[in-house]
Amino acid sequence: MVAKFVTVEGLDGAGKTTHLAWLRAALEARGISVCATREPGGTSFGEVLREMMLHPLHALHPESETLLMFAARREHLDKVIRPALAAGTWVLCDRFTDASFAYQGGGSGVEWSKVEALERWVQEDLHPDLTLYFDLEPQIAKSRLQAKSPDRFEKEHEAFHAAVRAGYLRRAREHPHRVRVISASGSISEVQAELSKQITSLCIG
Ligand code: TYD
Repeated sequence: MVAKFVTVEGLDGAGKTTHLAWLRAALEARGISVCATREPGGTSFGEVLREMMLHPLHALHPESETLLMFAARREHLDKVIRPALAAGTWVLCDRFTDASFAYQGGGSGVEWSKVEALERWVQEDLHPDLTLYFDLEPQIAKSRLQAKSPDRFEKEHEAFHAAVRAGYLRRAREHPHRVRVISASGSISEVQAELSKQITSLCIG
């Protein structure tokens, strides 16, 4: 089976972390070797950039933020994602380009066409095979966030998170074959049943 590239998205508090761990275990249980990685991050440079970008003190212009996200993504593709896929290892990535559309585009108002230009430049012909987007009302997502100190994006007001969600839903409409919208308002076992179906069809397809 050709190695697949799977990305996971959602508002902060939508349950991404729990579902990612479950997904990884479910894939490995099928004998699939998995490279679990994340954005921002994934490389030593990306992790340094992540610290800087998520720190509440470093408020950047949204376009600077977008450019940095894509610079880190370029490194991540080159050093981690493409080599893993070439070696037959599946890549399970905690956030990817759809987050730049949702947060910088939807949330912070960076023009969609600028993000699209960066996407073409940085990714060329590489796109995730499947994107699982956990959809949840921003108020519920916020109430589920654990009592950890919020990063810069988690500190944003509700209108920002509503715009991020609209950004994700726009990407799902624009890429219906790749992006699966999964309601995160159900129970964990309901969500896992849905994830199981998605994995099965990815393994078959
Ligand atoms: P997240 O992945 O949710 O990490 P944690 O679970 O540790 O909080 O946080 C990363 C933040 O980065 C999240 O708020 C979304 C933001 N982000 C962007 O704004 N643009 C991007 O392109 C990416 C990949 C993430």
